[in-house]
Amino acid sequence: MSNRYLEGPFAPVKEEVTVHDLPVTGRIPADLDGRYLRMGPNPLGVEDPSAHFWAFGAGMVHGVRIRDGRAEWYRNRWVRSAEVDDALRKLERGEDPGFVVPSPNVHVIGHAGRTLALIEGGGLPHELGEDLDTIGPCPLGATPEGFSANAHSKVDPRTGDLHSVAYLMGQPFAQHITTDPAGTVTRATNIPLQGTRTPFLHDFALSQNYVVVFDIPLVFTMEAMSFQWDPAYQARVGVLPRAGGEVRWLPVAPFYVSHVLNAHDDGATITVDLIRAEGPADVFDPGAIEPTLDRWTIDPVRGTVDQRRLDDRAQDFPRVNDAFATLPHRFGYSAVSPVYGTPFITDGPHPDESFTNALVKHDLRHGTTEVHGFARDAAVGEAAFAANPSGGGEDDGYLMAYVADPDRGASDLVILSAQDFTGPPVARVHLPVRVPLGFHGNWIPGA
Ligand SMILES: [Fe+2]
Repeated sequence: MSNRYLEGPFAPVKEEVTVHDLPVTGRIPADLDGRYLRMGPNPLGVEDPSAHFWAFGAGMVHGVRIRDGRAEWYRNRWVRSAEVDDALRKLERGEDPGFVVPSPNVHVIGHAGRTLALIEGGGLPHELGEDLDTIGPCPLGATPEGFSANAHSKVDPRTGDLHSVAYLMGQPFAQHITTDPAGTVTRATNIPLQGTRTPFLHDFALSQNYVVVFDIPLVFTMEAMSFQWDPAYQARVGVLPRAGGEVRWLPVAPFYVSHVLNAHDDGATITVDLIRAEGPADVFDPGAIEPTLDRWTIDPVRGTVDQRRLDDRAQDFPRVNDAFATLPHRFGYSAVSPVYGTPFITDGPHPDESFTNALVKHDLRHGTTEVHGFARDAAVGEAAFAANPSGGGEDDGYLMAYVADPDRGASDLVILSAQDFTGPPVARVHLPVRVPLGFHGNWIPGA
């Protein structure tokens, strides 16, 4: 039986490769020094296709090292948790490893000199080395209650602290955890949930003074062993002061949120730009919804959530220049399909347009957008922002993303100028292999 998340631009790759001195079209800016890393699920090829979903499968990180205007290497590596390492050894011996508990497969971030692979929920991240080999589970941010990081842990660029909103299935509370650059938990605050039905707390919003959590009607129950949409579940926005204290819950109409572009506050009201939809949402079919970019203005004292549309196009994978994370921003970036406007649509009316193939730059001050489209059959996911090392303006930098080239059967790392967004890429680094569509990543400057 076929499965769309095992085919085409999603199809997993079979081996880990290391390639040096990659060919480049264009010019890599000479002062860029660091690694572009992106994480995604890459099943070991043994799971039952009829039961497979995109987010299942061992994590695999794909990275390009850039220095002195050169692409020094490309590496892809499975995140070798004990289970995945054991399964890979069995496969080498020709044995069937059976069911393999996935290793972290959602995101890869840099924090205080560490490279961390992040997993959905609240479990331990895995630390990766400079060359992407797995060092092991990282106890950074772990609390006595068993929570640590989450899929979208965020670094506050002003303090260097890592903020997480971690949740564990069946636990009646989530935790906001602040971890300082030395790796010490400096604060952990419980966030009570609605009983033991755990909402899909995939992402959250962080401003200078607040943490905002989205208690959505996509809830995990032990009976179903899955997330399911429950229209009777009271949707809420939770506002927690970063300094600790009680969560203020604001009831809202049912909604689904995939990701937050950024958030900031003026001490009284919080502005959150987010990708949301009315729902119902199906965690196993993210293409069935068409989420839009909206701005929510939250007043925790008056108890109001003002909701306004910023861009009607269905889109996802929003990013900001991370130097402006938690602070007022003007620009944001996301992924769309320019033909039908559908993000990662899979079984939609146009199955040939089954993935995003364009990036959008939003000027949220002027309400304008620019679109950089790729070839019809190209596939592009999230783009990460790499600041110009000698610059400082919010859009002074580059967007980096892997773009599939079906003709070549391989992918390019595409580097776009954020200030010349519709112009030709500054550089295309030609990888010898394909990078499957995946989830999230970052530009991590060299030490
Ligand atoms: Fe995500």
